Amino acid sequence: MIIAPSLLSMDFTQTLSQLKEIKESQATWLHFDVMDGHFVPNLSFGPDICAQIRKHSDLFMDVHIMVSDPHYFSDVFIRAGADLITFHLEACASEEEVLSVIQKIRDKGVKVGLSIKPDTDVKSLIPFISKIDLILIMSVNPGYGGQSFIPNALDKIAFLRYYIDLNKLSCLIEVDGGINADTAKLVLDSGADVLVAGSYIFKHNIKETINTLWNLK
Ligand code: DX5
Ligand code: ZN
Repeated sequence: MIIAPSLLSMDFTQTLSQLKEIKESQATWLHFDVMDGHFVPNLSFGPDICAQIRKHSDLFMDVHIMVSDPHYFSDVFIRAGADLITFHLEACASEEEVLSVIQKIRDKGVKVGLSIKPDTDVKSLIPFISKIDLILIMSVNPGYGGQSFIPNALDKIAFLRYYIDLNKLSCLIEVDGGINADTAKLVLDSGADVLVAGSYIFKHNIKETINTLWNLK
């Protein structure tokens, strides 16, 4: 299991001490949410913040771009130090466009993920699963931290676990939105590999809460 604290819920007046606490915990990734105010009704971080956090943390930088233009923003965040760029299937007009963004990210030597929102059919990911490193199942409508988990994520995760194992693929399954100790147990039992958690971690003691999630595995 991999735990990826979502920096969206961080206390930004305490950035360095919180990065240190994460470093001392079982979390090995940082989840960095990029919102463009167009694909989702909110704005979050630009590339300079990503580059600065990169300088102060050697954890794996998991960048989730909730943007209408994944071509442009994948480049921008690769330059800012992303280890993985996850973009949204719904942001692309065609299968060809999805494949071209995947290839563009791969060509830069960066890992690539594809995400779907709660209302998108999980089967629409099938043409891409063998070509990507990670699938991100959104268990809230993207845009804000602190929302409640939408349970239809569980069947999607179970289907993907079955499909990935059956076809002997290595794609990771990540879940993002409304994760706490109860929902984490459900998504792990359904077959998820990577847990993103924002408000649950940052509204409590960071290290203890990450340990609680870690001990569920
Ligand atoms: C939502 C973001 C999430 C968010 C999760 O658009 O993609 O990463 O920060 O926050 P919580 O864990 O509070 O639901
Ligand atoms: Zn996210």
